[in-house]
Amino acid sequence: MRSKLVVGNWKMHGTRESCSSLILALKQGLDGVPEGVEIGIAPPSVYLPLAAKLCADTRIQTGAQNASQFEQGAYTGEVACGMLADLGADFVIVGHSERRALFGESDAVVAEKFAAVQAASLQPILCVGETLEQRKEGITADVVMAQLAAVLERVGVAAFENAVIAYEPVWAIGTGEKASPEQAQEVHALLRSDLAKQDKEIAAAIQILYGGSVKESNSAELIAQPDIDGGLVGGASLEAEQFLAICTNADN
Ligand code: PGA
Repeated sequence: MRSKLVVGNWKMHGTRESCSSLILALKQGLDGVPEGVEIGIAPPSVYLPLAAKLCADTRIQTGAQNASQFEQGAYTGEVACGMLADLGADFVIVGHSERRALFGESDAVVAEKFAAVQAASLQPILCVGETLEQRKEGITADVVMAQLAAVLERVGVAAFENAVIAYEPVWAIGTGEKASPEQAQEVHALLRSDLAKQDKEIAAAIQILYGGSVKESNSAELIAQPDIDGGLVGGASLEAEQFLAICTNADN
């Protein structure tokens, strides 16, 4: 049985003070979240040491929203996976649609980043998802399977034993327009069956999260779907009460 996982993607928000108070509020409400639900937060990476320290004695995992595909060297402005591990990160989100669309990350770069995250003994959360145009064209399945295939080709299916996938339809991110539970389930099932072609056990065990306008009010019905194992939450993860309620709703 797969456990449920809810990860907060704080994006480029907050200050040292607001990050601390958000974490303190999460810690205060943590007892109300059923034990079986795994929880992660991805603050801006400069606040990762602070977050890792504040979360050290809790079950909240901490991670980064992005990392360099390179191990070290003359890459001005980049942060290596090994550095994130050194700061206490547990996981790294790779291939978020904002990285793909705004910073030109190709499938090949995303695959390199996935490999780099694992090489640093961190867990990758691989994001895939189609744009509105692609959905309208009826090529959602092709798009998400191609995004997954690029990583599978680079690292092999065994690497997915210690990875998480997040399906995030681009048209649902930050728009308030979420995929219906049925729409999301369809893509989740597709991703799982695609992986199963290469390894049934890994496909059955991997957590596939849904992301895109997840809120307290819609999380339960989304996460109740058989192939949806939790959520990758943006906006709603910046409010402790909302995020804790989503975590609690994940236990179904
Ligand atoms: P959202 O973001 O919940 O604000 O739509 C989700 C994400 O980008 O991971």
